[in-house]
Amino acid sequence: MHFYRGRRLRKTKPLRKMVRETRLHPEDLVQPYFVVEGDENLEKPISSMPGQFQLGIKSLLRHIAKSADKGLQSVILFGIPGIKDGKASQAYNPSGIIQKAVAEIKSAHPELVVITDVCLCEYMDHGHCGIIKDGQVLNDPSLELLGRTALSHARAGADLVAPSDMMDGRVGFIRNILDENGFSDLPVMSYAVKYASAFYGPFRDAAQSAPSFGNRKTYQMDPGNAREAMLEASADLNEGADILMVKPALPYLDIIRDLRLNFDLPVAAYHVSGEYSLIKAGARLGYVDEKKVVLESLTSIKRAGADVILTYFAGEVITWLRQGE
Ligand code: PBG
Repeated sequence: MHFYRGRRLRKTKPLRKMVRETRLHPEDLVQPYFVVEGDENLEKPISSMPGQFQLGIKSLLRHIAKSADKGLQSVILFGIPGIKDGKASQAYNPSGIIQKAVAEIKSAHPELVVITDVCLCEYMDHGHCGIIKDGQVLNDPSLELLGRTALSHARAGADLVAPSDMMDGRVGFIRNILDENGFSDLPVMSYAVKYASAFYGPFRDAAQSAPSFGNRKTYQMDPGNAREAMLEASADLNEGADILMVKPALPYLDIIRDLRLNFDLPVAAYHVSGEYSLIKAGARLGYVDEKKVVLESLTSIKRAGADVILTYFAGEVITWLRQGE
């Protein structure tokens, strides 16, 4: 009797490895860091994200040096300023926390890809991603501040700027400002398809950026929508985005796949704080094996079509990959 014997190629580990279709590489991964203005040696554990820290600038450099030694190639930075106000002034202050951190990292590690998150929520006293008037998040006036922020990151030496605010038109606006100021070769990684997700909960503790009223549903996308993701991605492509991101990752694998099939730009996926913390919690309770669940999750994100994965597990995964899993 003849039938398909899929088990033939699953017989041994080397055979299974030989025919594996999707492999994680250290180069795929981006490690996010939270950098805090003030005490330069701060190293404060984030209680909702075990294993992650709020770092002063010197501690950040120590953490990055260790990870870079292990083979980490890319980082994305989130800033927590000393002062928050109604116009996010510290977001575009040339000597703000992110601008300083970028300059110091690039001088210590010129090869490291340093990405900056361009958003206003961590810098606004109300925690929204744009200017507020009469309880509304204003779109067009917010673009001006986002443009200034991106330009200040470019001037500090960032390799990639990543707008995450979900205001309409911001990719084009940022692209113009960069071009007009001599940064026409600086790429923009757009958080093109960002859902209004409960999986960002732990991040908002970490970055102290929870909105003080309302929610982000007037700018971030409704989780039920897939066709709209194509509209958002097309808009950002047309405005000049160089990389399109989907966020969160695991609950939105279909969207990652849709982007992969419909666009030829690199696709990034953000395995967000809630995805991280759920695995950490499950592992701590002994319900799941952390390493296996992490590798399976990230492999699935890549298999769905992501070229780049932002994940708080990046540092750990790189160590595991070096040990040959
Ligand atoms: C800023 C921003 C957020 C995340 C990345 N950039 C939070 C939000 O939109 O509320 C979430 C990242 C994560 O959860 O790991 N706008």
